[in-house]
Amino acid sequence: MKFFLDTANLDELKKGASWGVVDGVTTNPSLIAKEGRDIKDQVRLICDIVDGDISAEVVATEAGEMMREGRELARLHRNVVVKCPLTREGIKATKALSQEGIRVNVTLCFSPAQALIAAKAGAYIISPFVGRLDDVGHIGMDVIRDIATIYKNYGFKTQILAASLRHTLHVIEAARAGAHIGTMPFKVLDQLFNHPLTDKGLDQFLKDWNKVFQEAPVAR
Ligand code: E4P
Repeated sequence: MKFFLDTANLDELKKGASWGVVDGVTTNPSLIAKEGRDIKDQVRLICDIVDGDISAEVVATEAGEMMREGRELARLHRNVVVKCPLTREGIKATKALSQEGIRVNVTLCFSPAQALIAAKAGAYIISPFVGRLDDVGHIGMDVIRDIATIYKNYGFKTQILAASLRHTLHVIEAARAGAHIGTMPFKVLDQLFNHPLTDKGLDQFLKDWNKVFQEAPVAR
């Protein structure tokens, strides 16, 4: 499974990228607004940090305008993937942009039926929101599993990006469910490293080593 960072924060992206396991980035209008910089400038800066798919979302709600915005975003960098919402207008724009060779990530997906529509429109990525479904009492991961089955049944090439992942178990379950990509906040990626037995084990290894090679007098 590819790991994407779900943030537009440059410090988080630099730190995550330095670990060598970040394959791409997802942003949305809320995440871009949080950083306070114009979307085009922010996306360019992100593209300089992470070499992989960088999703940038349109804010228009009408297909023609989404296409205009989408083309502008796609022109920023070869790695930009244009995000369109899963509305009728968004799907219309997805179909048209995909036909022009622009890769589209269809976002705000909450059901397998919606994912089927996005794949039929030629989406490069579909983004089902796991955490937000959990929030309203629906098991978000079931949607990932259903989409994986449906896409496999018909050989759709659209990649499943498990979005709105909130914790380690979400990431593991998304991988088990067959998501191609998991996008997560920096905090979640950081938490994936943690295990108390790793810390305990390393501590013991170093103590044993130091007892012999650092603390013992040098043999003559
Ligand atoms: C990413 O593409 C989504 O916009 C993001 O994962 C949504 O996450 P949230 O539900 O935590 O805002």
